[in-house]
Amino acid sequence: MEVVIQPSTAAAVELVAEIIAREVQARPRPVLGLATGRTMESVYTRLVQMHRAERLDFSGCQTFNLDEYVGLQGTDKHSYRHYMNRLFFNQVNIDLRNTHLPHGDARELAAECERYERLIHETGGIDLQLLGIGQSGHIGFNEPPSEANSRTRVVTLAPETIRQNAPLFGADKMPSHAITMGVGTILASKKCLLLATGKSKAGIIQRTIEGPVTTNVPASALQSHPHCTIVLDEAAASALSAEARKR
Ligand code: F6R
Repeated sequence: MEVVIQPSTAAAVELVAEIIAREVQARPRPVLGLATGRTMESVYTRLVQMHRAERLDFSGCQTFNLDEYVGLQGTDKHSYRHYMNRLFFNQVNIDLRNTHLPHGDARELAAECERYERLIHETGGIDLQLLGIGQSGHIGFNEPPSEANSRTRVVTLAPETIRQNAPLFGADKMPSHAITMGVGTILASKKCLLLATGKSKAGIIQRTIEGPVTTNVPASALQSHPHCTIVLDEAAASALSAEARKR
């Protein structure tokens, strides 16, 4: 695991956007795994700027998002499809047909999970998977306990995650379930790139990087990934030991 600590949130975001841009430029048909959440908003803002100012070209990209809420249609303003279209896909030259999220409104959820997993496989797998981290230790919506070999499936959201995300739903009720890529699906990506910023992530980042690999901290499974980079700002890195800061 490579840990990179940047002096500010803006510098951490900039580095993550640069790593993604390099991946996009490195191959004609890049397959990106994407994440949503508050942390990622500024990453997409920066990628859109790179597209406009530096002509960063997304036309060859295929994308797979980590997760989607169960019961929400893609047109729902709280859905992750809506988030992705608004903040990223509709602002760059990506073909929307090459952008994939699980269908949270599918009638047969188990079949939808299998379809999604198969599609990732048929596309040749994910080259670079972008990740955030929840205070529960989740990556995607893999809440504790999540097995390292878990695959795309329906999960019940942890109380901590409901507390973390309910404010984004305002007066609307937040779904209690989601479809998420599994920890095993994420670990199968060729490279992983996790971004965490802010003091509220310091404790879970310390357990992810320095704690034992345990299903109770699903993000700790990344310790076993051969090409995983964790980018932090100083606040998110503030609970790390001096030794971990040097990794
Ligand atoms: C969302 C996702 C989640 C978020 C995590 C952090 O697609 O996969 O794991 O990355 O909940 O969310 P924020 O950035 O809002 O703290």
